[in-house]
Amino acid sequence: MAQNILTYDTVALDDEKSALVIIDQTKLPGTVEILSLTKQEDIHRAIYVLQVRGAPAIGVAAAIGVYLAAKGIKADNFDSFYAEFKKAKDYLATARPTAVNLFWALDRMDGFALANKSLSVPALKQALRDEAVRIRDEDIAVCRSIGENGLSLIKDGSGILTHCNAGQLATVKYGTALSPVHLGREKGMNFRVFTDETRPLLQGARLSAFECFADGVDTTVICDNMASQVMKNKWVEIVFVGCDRVAANGDAANKIGTSGVAILANYYKIPFYVCAPTSTIDMNIATGDDIPIEERPGGEVTEMWYKERMAPEGVKVFNPAFDVTPATLITGIITEYGIARPPYTESLKKIFEAKTPGRKK
Ligand code: MRU
Repeated sequence: MAQNILTYDTVALDDEKSALVIIDQTKLPGTVEILSLTKQEDIHRAIYVLQVRGAPAIGVAAAIGVYLAAKGIKADNFDSFYAEFKKAKDYLATARPTAVNLFWALDRMDGFALANKSLSVPALKQALRDEAVRIRDEDIAVCRSIGENGLSLIKDGSGILTHCNAGQLATVKYGTALSPVHLGREKGMNFRVFTDETRPLLQGARLSAFECFADGVDTTVICDNMASQVMKNKWVEIVFVGCDRVAANGDAANKIGTSGVAILANYYKIPFYVCAPTSTIDMNIATGDDIPIEERPGGEVTEMWYKERMAPEGVKVFNPAFDVTPATLITGIITEYGIARPPYTESLKKIFEAKTPGRKK
């Protein structure tokens, strides 16, 4: 029998092979293929084509990726090392635009390099390796805390709806929106999870359903346009979704279709929670209007999952990868430091104060 998907690491570093190790998520659920990527172009491509995806996993992959670039730099002083490091960082930063974790992780690695410029180049490379591994390890702890906070909102047997995949496959372990589910399973609980299939790339059907099912969760896949019916039937008590970037006012960008789910949840009076590590909260952006929304090739809509093209050749296609859910539709934002409630301009500041005591407002 195939190994349970939950026993694999979503993102890891192979020191011996100087490789970023990922599960190729474009092949799931049919094939579990592990990729060892050593070239910067392959790491960039893996992020762009969603072989590794989900905001936290992208951040960890980028941190490991930029460390691998650093490891390969031939330089005998900091300035020439840093010039090459910066090029590698800037290159990886172009892989995708919306998930702030990509920039957060690369900036953290950059700041770490600058703060340790007095080290010899070999010592700095080793320190950067340790920082990338710290980012990875922290992700596991952060997701676990989000899971614990989310678990306080549900009970054994709860009906949960989720959109896209903000599960273990989108992080290193546990996930964000699915972390309460996986943690609950560890405690012997079970839930009824409805996963929107999540057109066009089907992260809900291919990934969330896969990992929930593998964890023994009572899992039901629905097409995106069935969520209203499921809510109307009172099968769902709560919605948990992930996010790619939260603005300082609580507006949250997540996979395309999330805002529609929030509107439905509001209509049916179902609590709608966004699960967000603080690395996904961008306090430099005032509102969701300032979040860049990625647009992807039309072929993802018209061809990618079909035996034959399903729309007329030459027809226009609009394929935004994300949308922004207004803060007014969000019941709470579940972070590793607790659950922020409206008004988010205040509560998110408090979350960051808890993260960095003494931080200036
Ligand atoms: O395009 P994707 O698959 O990377 O989009 C992923 C999402 O929208 C997730 O919900 C989000 O990144 C949170 S993952 C914990």
